[in-house]
Amino acid sequence: MLLSSYGEMGGIFAPTRDTLLRAAEIIRNSGLVAFPTETVYGLGANALDAGAVRKIFEAKGRPQDNPLILHVSNIREASLYADMNPSAELLMQHFWPGPLTIVLYSSDIVPLVTRGNLETVALRVPMNQIALDLIHETGLPIAAPSANRSGRPSPTTAEIVRNDLGLAVDMIIDGGASPIGVESTVIDATGEKITILRPGGVTREMLEHIVDVEAGSPANTARSPGTKHKHYSPSIDIRLWKDDNTEIFSEEMGSWCYLGMRQPPEGNAVKVIFRSLDEYAHELFHVLRQLERCGAKRIIADLPEEHGIGEAIRNRLIRAAGG
Ligand code: TXA
Ligand code: MG
Repeated sequence: MLLSSYGEMGGIFAPTRDTLLRAAEIIRNSGLVAFPTETVYGLGANALDAGAVRKIFEAKGRPQDNPLILHVSNIREASLYADMNPSAELLMQHFWPGPLTIVLYSSDIVPLVTRGNLETVALRVPMNQIALDLIHETGLPIAAPSANRSGRPSPTTAEIVRNDLGLAVDMIIDGGASPIGVESTVIDATGEKITILRPGGVTREMLEHIVDVEAGSPANTARSPGTKHKHYSPSIDIRLWKDDNTEIFSEEMGSWCYLGMRQPPEGNAVKVIFRSLDEYAHELFHVLRQLERCGAKRIIADLPEEHGIGEAIRNRLIRAAGG
């Protein structure tokens, strides 16, 4: 940990009281602070300050039409920025704080740049004490996408944030490795039924216990601009191991390294094996970043079962492999 860079741009800071007070001040003064959440690290700015939000887009190299999530501390605060409805409120009561982002019609107070020029806004209350203290101390909604360069795997440690964004960030708060490892579930709650726009930590099964959920897969690009951009990609080629395509391991197709839950065929390759879906989610992004330096031509990733957090892992892998 580089705690010695205290006071420098892009420095990593331990989450002390003093750090939180300085971070809140940076955000109130239109700066950028990267902070931990239970899913991945976020790159935060004052969501109500269009100039500050533009800096997020610049720092990440993010397309302007990809809206940001407002991080707030509770349901009452959420209701200041969006039109509430009964099923959205029920979901907030059940899953907040937690990895569920809810898209609702936006209030006019939220600048258009924050919501990618849409009439809707995405909201969530993270389940991480550092993030909650920061929001509380700032007294503002914090707009925060994942704190990676646009298109790269999301960051799950403070160090990865620094490697990706470095001097573009005023401060990075270190909260250790992100416990979940993949981003929040994003749902559209503006219609009769809930639609899943991005699978994540709160699974379809969990949502279906509470409200009606539209059947079918996400990737409704008109409603979720983020899904149309290439994302999560390591710098070398990535191939997916499904059920019946073991030929992808053949050496004629080039050397490979591997991550997944099943044992791959014999070979001298670097292999990372996970014992559970939770562990796969927790390690996914960070292992993708490690394997791109494994010396092989490509990464082969095991596509896990489509239940629980497996749906989110599959979604990220399919997009990392180009759709
Ligand atoms: O777990 C997470 O959600 C993390 C942490 C930092 O909170 N944040 C995150 O943000 O993953 P980002 O910007 O990388 O992904 C947000 C997703 C994008 O796919 C974006 O298109 C979608 O949410 N989104 C945001 N606002 C939306 C809106 N108004 N309508 C539809 N989709 C929206
Ligand atoms: Mg992201």
